[in-house]
Amino acid sequence: MKNIPVVMIIFGGSGDLAHRKLYPALFNLYEQGLIHDNFAVIGTARRPWSHEYLREQVSDAIHETHDQVDENDVKRFASHFYYQSHDVTNVEHYETLKKLAQELDDRYSAQGNRLFYMAMAPRFFGTIATHINDQSLTGSGFNRIVVEKPFGHDLASAEELNKEITASFNEDDIFRIDHYLGKEMIQNIMPMRFTNPLIKNICTSENVKNIQVTLAERLGVEARGGYYDTSGALRDMVQNHIFQIITLLAMPEPKDLSSSSIHKAKQDLLESMIIPTPEEVEKDFVRGQYLGSDNTFAYKKEPNVDPESTTETFVAGKVKFKKGPVADVPIYFRTGKEFKEKKNRIDIVLKHMNNPYGQAHSNNITIEIDPVSKIYITINGKKIDTSGIRRENLTYEFSKEEMAKVPDGYERLLHDVFVDDSTNFTHWSELKRYWEFIDTVEDAWQKENEKGNPKISQYLPYRMGPKEASDIFESPTEHWIYE
Ligand code: BG6
Repeated sequence: MKNIPVVMIIFGGSGDLAHRKLYPALFNLYEQGLIHDNFAVIGTARRPWSHEYLREQVSDAIHETHDQVDENDVKRFASHFYYQSHDVTNVEHYETLKKLAQELDDRYSAQGNRLFYMAMAPRFFGTIATHINDQSLTGSGFNRIVVEKPFGHDLASAEELNKEITASFNEDDIFRIDHYLGKEMIQNIMPMRFTNPLIKNICTSENVKNIQVTLAERLGVEARGGYYDTSGALRDMVQNHIFQIITLLAMPEPKDLSSSSIHKAKQDLLESMIIPTPEEVEKDFVRGQYLGSDNTFAYKKEPNVDPESTTETFVAGKVKFKKGPVADVPIYFRTGKEFKEKKNRIDIVLKHMNNPYGQAHSNNITIEIDPVSKIYITINGKKIDTSGIRRENLTYEFSKEEMAKVPDGYERLLHDVFVDDSTNFTHWSELKRYWEFIDTVEDAWQKENEKGNPKISQYLPYRMGPKEASDIFESPTEHWIYE
């Protein structure tokens, strides 16, 4: 691996994301030589930490995520970290930050390369971007910025934030991160679709009855009630993760594997996305909220959640495209908290075929993303002792050992930022279309709320979400494959 010189500035350097994900991921990249002698990291946040204290935190983060480490490596790695106490609204602090960045650039020969990482509360993203620009924090080499989700709260605020960021950065240098795009099985969708005639030729409007995407979570909102109550499942999971998965499943084959060709294929698809009317939102979408149990809170009783909240912790819905290999095929999705188990999966359901046996089970292609990773095709065959039809799975499974070698999504995606590969990041044009869709659904719900009788299905925890989620299918022969 090539050593990439850089000064990285993490806004939110004392936060949970930096501790759990960024520091361990950077350490792994350091161990592999991608960043080595010529890098420095400045962690910034409000707390009055010292350089030494940040280094201790970095070292703890590595020990918490690695079974065995070379203590000298950890020490050497942590010595590249610096802390700058910083109030993001105070212009003078950017001056100090700029000086420190320049000093470290000289000390580490970082060649004027700067990487900014927005890892703090999203309400500050715009302010930080504005001050990076007006205080000229960018360096003389490359300047890249990684922006965590949520990128805006709706299309208008996303456009505003984008304007603030593009004042200092080109679209090619903006890395809007979606950690689902760093997951092994999500990265497997394209090779699976485009290298297997069996799958490629079958995944067409002619053969596919519907596609189902389920992102189910076992846990509730936990300590994030304050944020979640302003977001809800549609913004938190559909606007980004679910839409990216659907785009990968439905997009036409890209001309080649370059980032620009892949984004072009995605954009071609998304231009043809059908935005639902308010009547369609009412018919094709279900929102829900979890109730409590003996040992879990109901959503409305969670800390920092409005007891009258209409925020959804579950959503099911439908999307269709006018173009692409599965044009006009319904793509159903659902996601929610407090399900019976954690399960992220995709089911591609093939159309029923008349046959001389007069019977057959549905023939599906399933991709399980988390917590296990596997792909399987459900097929029909003959029962041994009768003429009946039996159902079997042909499974392509990844062993535990193989999966243990898979790098964490953040390590993969940070690596991509260093080597300037934006394939697995969200392009502005994609984000814009996703928000157009989400805004329409949110507006329809808002109108319903204003009428005073919003339809929000209450559901019990440890189950499969509200039963109304089964009402969104176009035909009575359709149902959720994962139940
Ligand atoms: C995040 C959401 O983006 O994804 C969380 O904000 C959610 O609410 C999480 O729990 C799920 O990610 P994963 O990788 O655990 O499926």
